[in-house]
Amino acid sequence: MTKTILLKNRPEGKPSMSDFEFITEESENTISKGEILLETKYVSVDPYLRGRMSDAKSYVPPFQLNKPIQSGVIAKVLESKNDTFTEGDYVSGMLNWQTKQISNGEGLTKVNPDKAPLSAYLGILGMTGLTAYTGLTEIGKPKAGETLVVSGAAGAVGSVVGQIGKILGLRVIGIAGTDEKIEMLKSKFGFDVGINYNTTKDMKSAIAEAAPNGVDIYFDNVGGPISDAVLVNINRLARIIVCGAISVYNNTEAPKSLSVQPFLVKNSALMQGFIVSNYAEKFPEAIKQLATWLSEGKLMYSETIVKGFDNIPKAFIDLFEGKNKGKMIVEL
Ligand SMILES: NC(=O)c1ccc[n+]([C@@H]2O[C@H](COP(=O)([O-])OP(=O)(O)OC[C@H]3O[C@@H](n4cnc5c(N)ncnc54)[C@H](OP(=O)(O)O)[C@@H]3O)[C@@H](O)[C@H]2O)c1
Repeated sequence: MTKTILLKNRPEGKPSMSDFEFITEESENTISKGEILLETKYVSVDPYLRGRMSDAKSYVPPFQLNKPIQSGVIAKVLESKNDTFTEGDYVSGMLNWQTKQISNGEGLTKVNPDKAPLSAYLGILGMTGLTAYTGLTEIGKPKAGETLVVSGAAGAVGSVVGQIGKILGLRVIGIAGTDEKIEMLKSKFGFDVGINYNTTKDMKSAIAEAAPNGVDIYFDNVGGPISDAVLVNINRLARIIVCGAISVYNNTEAPKSLSVQPFLVKNSALMQGFIVSNYAEKFPEAIKQLATWLSEGKLMYSETIVKGFDNIPKAFIDLFEGKNKGKMIVEL
């Protein structure tokens, strides 16, 4: 039996369980020459999938209605008629939300379970780590002694960004949504200051207090009013790395945001959006560096592992309620 999750409706506002459909099919899973049969082990759920569930024009095509949803997956090769893969290999790639599936191997990379736990290849040694590393180094161009603010700081990307900032000698301020997350930022990830945006009345003043020398780099994962409060605290020649804007992904009306231009002009500041794949040529260097820091104990990571294929949509929806600490992953 193969279970699959399809996109049933394009979500209006926050996604709900009724936007997804589960089907179970009797499938023979017979592979042809060049193909492999895969069994899904870990599924990554990510905020950007929300964008693919709508039909707005973006950098990747939208998911099709009544077709399987795809995301980063770690799978085991059960059977192979492909020269690159052998039975028992583990692979990482964009695959369907499906318990078993057939692939021609295109776009899949072998991952080694002896070098790191398999789930890490979806997080710190996968897209998450690469996003944090390339965004911070390529756009942020950090210099020791500068001040970095990270929003979504206790999440998958943010927690890595802050730690890289510390390794590179920055003062690091993290913004997250619960006291427990703020404690984790400081005790586990070494952030200098944490600000809980849900309990702080005046974010602008809280950031000014946490960054007495002003903000040189802002790694923005959330957008919205949190980012407005950071922007008014930037320094001359500040770099604003626009990685994501989760606070507005479910908006049904245009957000009312600060007009950023005056802040950019008067500070000669740079604000740049990016997609991690822009820096594909840097990936080998980035993975090598992240793996070295991990093995040296300079970099830690946190995961929220949800068990069971049927819980994939719920785990995805929970991202918008901040239920995860670090990388949200579903284990089958
Ligand atoms: N540009 C790229 O190539 C790229 C690649 C990967 C990810 N991203 C983006 O990076 C951001 C972080 O992704 P991730 O995978 O690391 O997710 P994540 O941070 O692990 O999970 C999402 C977190 O966002 C916070 N959040 C949810 N709703 C919020 C709101 N309304 N206001 C403020 N914070 C809110 C929650 O934490 P709290 O409890 O703190 O609210 C939640 O835990 C996302 O915007 C994502 O789209 C971009």
